[in-house]
Amino acid sequence: MFVTVIAVSFLMLPHGVALWACTRSCPPSCTCTQEKSCTVLCDRANMVELPAEFPCEASSINLEKNSLKFLAERAFGTLPSLKSLSLDHNNISFITPGAFKGLPNLLELKMAHNEYIRYLHTRTFTSLKRLVRLDLSDCNLFNMPDRIFLEQISLKELLCFQNNFRRIPGAIRGMENLTHIYLERNKIEAVAYNSLLGLSNLKYLNLQDNRISVIHDEAFKDLRRLENFYLNDNLLAELPQQSFKGLNRLKMLNLGGNLLTNVSKNWFGDLVELEVLYLDRNRLSFIEVGAFENLTSLMTLHLNSNNLTTLPFTVFQPIYFIGRLYLFRNPWECNCELEWLKEWMESYKLVRDIPCTSPSSVAGLDLSEVMYARLNGTCVDPAELNLTTAIPDYPTTENKFNSLISKLLHQELREEMGNSTEGPRNGTLLEPAEGQVSSAHRSSSAGKILHLLLACLFFLQAPASLSSLINAS
Ligand SMILES: *[C@@H]1O[C@H](CO)[C@@H](O)[C@H](O)[C@H]1NC(C)=O
Ligand SMILES: *[C@@H]1O[C@H](CO)[C@@H](O)[C@H](O)[C@H]1NC(C)=O
Ligand SMILES: *[C@@H]1O[C@H](CO)[C@@H](O)[C@H](O)[C@H]1NC(C)=O
Ligand SMILES: *[C@@H]1O[C@H](CO)[C@@H](O)[C@H](O)[C@H]1NC(C)=O
Ligand SMILES: *[C@@H]1O[C@H](CO)[C@@H](O)[C@H](O)[C@H]1NC(C)=O
Ligand SMILES: *[C@@H]1O[C@H](CO)[C@@H](O)[C@H](O)[C@H]1NC(C)=O
Ligand SMILES: *[C@@H]1O[C@H](CO)[C@@H](O)[C@H](O)[C@H]1NC(C)=O
Ligand SMILES: *[C@@H]1O[C@H](CO)[C@@H](O)[C@H](O)[C@H]1NC(C)=O
Ligand SMILES: *[C@@H]1O[C@H](CO)[C@@H](O)[C@H](O)[C@H]1NC(C)=O
Repeated sequence: MFVTVIAVSFLMLPHGVALWACTRSCPPSCTCTQEKSCTVLCDRANMVELPAEFPCEASSINLEKNSLKFLAERAFGTLPSLKSLSLDHNNISFITPGAFKGLPNLLELKMAHNEYIRYLHTRTFTSLKRLVRLDLSDCNLFNMPDRIFLEQISLKELLCFQNNFRRIPGAIRGMENLTHIYLERNKIEAVAYNSLLGLSNLKYLNLQDNRISVIHDEAFKDLRRLENFYLNDNLLAELPQQSFKGLNRLKMLNLGGNLLTNVSKNWFGDLVELEVLYLDRNRLSFIEVGAFENLTSLMTLHLNSNNLTTLPFTVFQPIYFIGRLYLFRNPWECNCELEWLKEWMESYKLVRDIPCTSPSSVAGLDLSEVMYARLNGTCVDPAELNLTTAIPDYPTTENKFNSLISKLLHQELREEMGNSTEGPRNGTLLEPAEGQVSSAHRSSSAGKILHLLLACLFFLQAPASLSSLINAS
């Protein structure tokens, strides 16, 4: 009888007295530091329910890696000093609206890796007026109510990566104080014209690893302070002409891992502070002249793993003094149009690894190993030979072998023409015109070639010697 009476009176107490209070003691299965900023550590404590009370002066509570399932209204009582609360790696599936009431000074709330949350109520974060950083990553969220952040006027960092969003949550629209948004690894399909409106202080936006195939015109127009922008690993085949217009603070733009085929000259015209540009792992085969013309701060350009055959000097000219240039894994056509690049490589030693796919006489060689012939001072394209039956996309040992043979053939020709005295800098091979390796020349050199083939076979055991063989000969 007595017990029942106690229970009833407990329940009938006004909440503010019975459940919302705080305590002077440390909750069971937690440890508390007694310094002036009291830290309450309750992580990995196999907790299924929250402790009834927390120390009044708690400034930080860590409840990570427990099995919490449910947060009631005012779940933490009244903790005016609490600045940081972590609920990462629990099993929270329901958060009662108003669960965080009583925490007026909370700055950071971490709820990442609670895979059963899925949906949030509009009033979930009510009264968290000073919140600066909110982590909801990996919570299986499908969306968020548009007005969920109405009171979070101080929010700067929103982490929502690895959820199930199919569009950019409308809740962030107009949040002018946001500086960092993490939305990578969701299922976002498009960026609408109004998805990112009013984010005038945003510095960091991560949309990588989504399914974005459509970006509407002017979708980024308010992101005037954006510095780091990740759009890589999406399904973008095209971008609106004026996509990045006005983003003149942008320092890093990652467009890698998309389906882009062309680089338009209108895309980067305003990016005067851009230092790093990723265009790798696309299907680029064409870069419009002028595309890089205003990238006067660019230090690193990633163009590797595309479908580029050439990079005319006119395309590259304004960023001639770039620090790093990545060009590997492209089917480069190492004709005279790329001669400037070879010279540039030699003088700056900043690019390496430009494998030639054509013409066949140089297929498999690196551009640095191609020697351009000159006729009356004019560069002559390396020949298209009939020595190889099939030209693979990328260099293979067989290809290197074939090109070496063709090189040696030409060496022979040069010797027969009686001019082997030129120095190496001027010692460009005098190539015959396209496809004109006459059979007469071949047969007259047959014996020597056989020798050379044997030499090749020997040197193939030590591929590093290939270029030295060429240089030496
Ligand atoms: C987590 O919660 C879900 C649903 O609420 C439940 O099915 C699951 O068993 C829980 N897992 C653990 C480890 O408690
Ligand atoms: C941004 O912060 C300022 C100053 O704290 C505040 O007055 C303003 O309402 C905030 N803006 C929004 C959209 O929350
Ligand atoms: C890419 O450029 C080529 C050559 O100018 C043009 O024919 C093609 O239509 C362009 N493709 C796109 C998607 O703009
Ligand atoms: C480069 O900047 C100048 C000056 O702001 C501008 O007139 C020009 O259109 C820009 N180039 C491109 C390709 O947008
Ligand atoms: C690469 O570009 C060529 C034309 O330059 C085109 O025929 C080919 O389909 C492209 N390959 C890919 C994988 O896009
Ligand atoms: C090279 O120059 C010489 C003399 O200037 C000229 O006779 C000859 O036709 C030129 N050859 C070619 C291929 O232009
Ligand atoms: C070989 O080169 C020298 C100059 O290095 C030149 O005078 C001579 O005419 C050249 N011979 C042939 C056959 O081209
Ligand atoms: C190449 O040789 C020609 C004449 O043989 C000479 O006029 C020219 O300056 C040389 N070029 C270099 C880069 O040495
Ligand atoms: C290669 O040889 C075949 C047959 O002899 C010929 O039809 C073809 O035009 C040649 N290709 C080149 C690039 O010379």
